[in-house]
Amino acid sequence: MTKVKACLFDLDGVIVDTAKYHYLAWKRLASELGFEFTEEHNERLKGVSRMKSLEILLEVGHKQNLFTEEEKLKMAEKKNNWYVEYISQMDESEILKGVKEFMECIRANGIKTALGSVSKNAMTILNNIGMVKYFDTVIDGTKITNAKPDPEVFLKGAEELGVAPNSCVVFEDAKAGIEAARNAEMHCIGVGSPLILDKADFTIMSFEEMTLERLEF
Ligand code: BG6
Ligand code: MG
Repeated sequence: MTKVKACLFDLDGVIVDTAKYHYLAWKRLASELGFEFTEEHNERLKGVSRMKSLEILLEVGHKQNLFTEEEKLKMAEKKNNWYVEYISQMDESEILKGVKEFMECIRANGIKTALGSVSKNAMTILNNIGMVKYFDTVIDGTKITNAKPDPEVFLKGAEELGVAPNSCVVFEDAKAGIEAARNAEMHCIGVGSPLILDKADFTIMSFEEMTLERLEF
């Protein structure tokens, strides 16, 4: 049995439900481009980088070959400006249930913590919700070159914490994130439906279900 020495947390959809703000901003862009973007389409964007998300959105609207790289960068920037406007209103009331209690418990028991997110807005969110102090290290989109499912974000986190990958567990709500954890050879707990997150070791619907005892693999 492995004793977990570090927990690595994704941000969007794990610590806070920012997926709804990403969705609102992408939907607004799609609407400007003249097509509908549904919540079901949005599932495909979870855990995916900003530019890859734009490619998927354009594919949904059958507009993938219509724009230059420069135009695409402008569109992504526009979406991001709307997103930043939405998240600027966030405060600690948006932290998902049970997250703080679980993190306080593991940290009191000597388990290290890292944030592992591909978002370039991660620090803004952590500051707005007052959770910077809960992490020993933060790896975000400004520190990596390869988005999930590449394992870079989690391997960097483990390295900064000085913990071997097989003693780490990742908490993830996206299929791409679970794949990234697997590629890093880490344990992985899915946050969400077991039907979608079927490659996780097990899934929880909320951190209220998490205990120290469940961190044994
Ligand atoms: C991930 C989100 O955490 O970050 C994706 O799940 C998002 O939806 C990605 O596209 C990149 O985020 P940002 O904030 O840098 O555009
Ligand atoms: Mg996520």
